[in-house]
Amino acid sequence: MNILVIGSGGREHAFAYQLKKSALCSKLYILPGNPGTEQLGTNVLLSPDNFNEIGQFCLNSKIELVIVGPEEPLVKGIRDFFEADIQLESIAFIGPDAKGAQMEGSKEWSKAFMTKYNIPTAAYEAFTSKNLAAGINYINQHSLPVVLKADGLAAGKGVLICESRHEALNELQLMINEHKFGQAGCKVVVEEFLSGIELSVFVLTDGTNYKILPSAKDYKRIGEGDKGLNTGGMGAVSPVPFADADFMLKVEERIIKPTIYGLQKEGIHYKGFIFIGLMNVNGDPIVIEYNCRMGDPETETVLPLVQNDFVELMMAAAKGTLNQIKLNIDPRSSATIMLVSMGYPGEFEKGKKITGMDLVEESILFHAGTCRTETGEIVSNGGRVMAITSLGENIKEALEKSIASAGKIAFNTKSYRKDIGYEFV
Ligand code: AMP
Ligand code: GLY
Repeated sequence: MNILVIGSGGREHAFAYQLKKSALCSKLYILPGNPGTEQLGTNVLLSPDNFNEIGQFCLNSKIELVIVGPEEPLVKGIRDFFEADIQLESIAFIGPDAKGAQMEGSKEWSKAFMTKYNIPTAAYEAFTSKNLAAGINYINQHSLPVVLKADGLAAGKGVLICESRHEALNELQLMINEHKFGQAGCKVVVEEFLSGIELSVFVLTDGTNYKILPSAKDYKRIGEGDKGLNTGGMGAVSPVPFADADFMLKVEERIIKPTIYGLQKEGIHYKGFIFIGLMNVNGDPIVIEYNCRMGDPETETVLPLVQNDFVELMMAAAKGTLNQIKLNIDPRSSATIMLVSMGYPGEFEKGKKITGMDLVEESILFHAGTCRTETGEIVSNGGRVMAITSLGENIKEALEKSIASAGKIAFNTKSYRKDIGYEFV
């Protein structure tokens, strides 16, 4: 079967890595891909936003399965585009339609959804320019810290945790009146601050049945000890030791089941991944957010633990037969360290030659921000450059391998956190 993965990061490299292992995979294409995916299949130099060209490519290349990595094309309706075309509609497709992608595309929509279906989440209200005065009032009476979230997609920057009312009022005003996050921030969700330990749970659903993938904890801050600015993610570990059977049962009963039920009730035929960002508050899981896709770097951490034939798993999710699949999960632990460009998430230099990849034996390398120069060299091309994943008998062992591999790879601006998973070693 010919397969297309849409996206260009470490997450998509990890998808390609899993798909390529399957005997069912004939030709593998990654759009636009990166120098890592190029070693597994054919990169297709089209934009993930250009649905017309993607559709034409699928027809020309006889694609039978499409997997969408990032949220943007989903929120913009790539699935709807395929479903509306008589030639494309029969292609198996992983990723929700635009209505389902609102889980991530609109914070207000997802908060209202959780409230309607009794899914535990932080108390909130939403405000726009029309009820700004009520928003000011709400913040003035709110406990501290208070959390402000731009309603729409804001490239991971739309969440502000405000320690003072002055800061919260100022930010509310900047978002609504000054369009600090553009259109995404014209509506603002103001919510209660949850205190606890975060983790991510990944669900693969065919709209009726679901499978829960191993849990993960990612490390978002740039600095060791979880200090400094937020990034896309500096590393992750899986499974999360405190997400034991008791805790995961609560997640399933209180969150996953009502989420799948709610989606059905709303008439959303959700086929794809649901990434649930959770806070463990004194042993109880509370939802921070939904994403309509897998996480990055969590995909690089979690997928290598999935031992099922990945094409079979994706086809079952697309065709509504996940109930016939038994997940086969490696009992070991997985740990990912992200190599980034010094300066990230602020300004950084690109184009630094990367060496030493061939010296890595005990880990899997997933390219993220890399590119190939005209002379064939692989150079850095982004903030997050490469994810290094290793498996071990426990998190400590997995981390040791990833740290050793991180030391073997060299580029001028290389930087990484050496304390990923510090709570668990
Ligand atoms: P997001 O950009 O939506 O992934 O959110 C960024 C981060 O903000 C989350 O990973 C949490 O660490 C934090 N966060 C979001 N909402 C809350 C909340 N209600 N209470 C505490 N932390 C939060
Ligand atoms: N690592 C967090 C995300 O993918 O949103």
